[in-house]
Amino acid sequence: MEPLPEVTDPRVIDGRKIAQDIEAEVKKGVEGFVKEHGIKPALATILVGEHPPSKLYVKLKHWACKRVGIASEDHKFPAQVRQEEIIDLIDTLNKRPEIHGILVQLPLPKHIDERTIMMRIAPEKDVDGFNPLNMGKMLIGREGFLPCTPKGIIRALEEFKIDPQGKEVVVVGHSNVVGKPAAIMLLNRNATVKVCHVYTKDLKSHTREADILIVATGVRGLIKADMVKEGAIVFDVGITWQDERVYGDVDFDDVLPKVKLISPVPGGVGPMTIAILMEHTLMAAKMQMS
Ligand code: GUN
Repeated sequence: MEPLPEVTDPRVIDGRKIAQDIEAEVKKGVEGFVKEHGIKPALATILVGEHPPSKLYVKLKHWACKRVGIASEDHKFPAQVRQEEIIDLIDTLNKRPEIHGILVQLPLPKHIDERTIMMRIAPEKDVDGFNPLNMGKMLIGREGFLPCTPKGIIRALEEFKIDPQGKEVVVVGHSNVVGKPAAIMLLNRNATVKVCHVYTKDLKSHTREADILIVATGVRGLIKADMVKEGAIVFDVGITWQDERVYGDVDFDDVLPKVKLISPVPGGVGPMTIAILMEHTLMAAKMQMS
């Protein structure tokens, strides 16, 4: 990947910088953990099939593990694998005490039931926060392992000292990975939250009201300047791969003049997601050793 230009515009959220700060904290935490317990925190990833972006994300996750001193195992299955084989591996990883975190990269092939897989990961090793127990805890405000991408958004808001309480938040996209958990986490922080999606009529009438706009649809350039409120904070979580490049859901150049803050693609929420995963793996290791 080509290196990104340095972020100098104060309106642009530098996700790489925030991620570096999180990783520096995790690295210190990992060193302390190793001193105390004589073992490294360890993450196991499971990748199914040959989806090129997923392969890249998993590789980036392993590189991050290396940077912070977390051990990692890379498990791969062909796309035609039977669901039982994945379940058997998860059961084995659940039982191995030296593995603290388990991550199944999404999306999975159509013949695999994602919910069944997520339910199988032991809640205490569910560093992605997708197990229904962790999702349910989030829903009732007892946040433990949270989905990493929306947690990265919360972390960025904290970084800029923006309190979501009382703010109008509009989330575009209602996936289990980003949209729904982002909405719940902001609701837990007393924002007024609206969730829009592919069936929403007149999307613009909603997005124009948002103090904080979170977009996670995978539709390149969906959000234009006339859909954004003056002074809004915009998180672009979309990723579309075209011509060996990634594009977000927000038309960045069009929207930039109107915003107070915006997260770019690439270099926005992506790196923060991975840094949060590192934080969760350390957290899982600490919880399992206490
Ligand atoms: N696919 C897209 N985002 C994510 C994520 O945060 N975790 C996993 N496991 N898969 C993903």
